[in-house]
Amino acid sequence: MSDGDLAASDQPALPVGDDALPRPWLRTDAGAVMEAYQDPAIQRWYVRRADSVQEAGEWIGQWQRSWSEETGAHRALVHAGSGTLLGRVALKSLSLADGKAEVAYWTVPAARGGGLCSRAVQALTCWALGRGGFHRIELEHSTANEASCRVAVKAGFEEEGVRRSAWLHADGRHDVHLHARLRQS
Ligand SMILES: CC(C)(COP(=O)(O)OP(=O)(O)OC[C@H]1O[C@@H](n2cnc3c(N)ncnc32)[C@H](O)[C@@H]1OP(=O)(O)O)[C@@H](O)C(=O)NCCC(=O)NCCS
Repeated sequence: MSDGDLAASDQPALPVGDDALPRPWLRTDAGAVMEAYQDPAIQRWYVRRADSVQEAGEWIGQWQRSWSEETGAHRALVHAGSGTLLGRVALKSLSLADGKAEVAYWTVPAARGGGLCSRAVQALTCWALGRGGFHRIELEHSTANEASCRVAVKAGFEEEGVRRSAWLHADGRHDVHLHARLRQS
């Protein structure tokens, strides 16, 4: 992949079902992001904490800039009718030279268990390995995070192994399960 190709292309349209809509992040989402990060599960599985609406707004600014800077692709998942924030799906740690990226995600508690996250991860990965031009998309989660492992498997990510003691969370060190999907040759 060449520098500039991604930024020059349209951001992906992701089919995730009738009830949810992926869209670019807006600064006005900061309050909902701050609220999402009050969820104990998000606090447990993410090292990062949003301690204020201003901090959440700064993250959104980074997520918005990431496409033109070719460092990421971040989408808000919102309810198609009400516009309520349901979750986040993203590509991060882009390496254009290698054609590699990582996928990241969360959903708010009220949106969980209906397959939204798996569909969003699947749609973003299909775009990345197709029109996006990437060769390999990685997905990592704590080995204790069984829901995240289900998302990985349902979205077609093969298991590749365990990185021991790789993440330091608030409750201590976690082994990390590595999954990946490759571009079909
Ligand atoms: C992980 C997460 C994104 C899943 O979102 P979701 O929208 O519920 O995902 P889906 O509905 O697509 O799939 C969830 C799967 O996990 C399963 N699951 C949920 N809780 C589980 C648990 N405690 N143990 C095992 N499986 C669990 C569900 O049954 C479902 O699998 P199934 O369809 O085979 O029944 C969501 O729980 C979340 O945001 N958690 C907190 C943040 C997080 O962990 N992010 C990932 C960090 S790597």
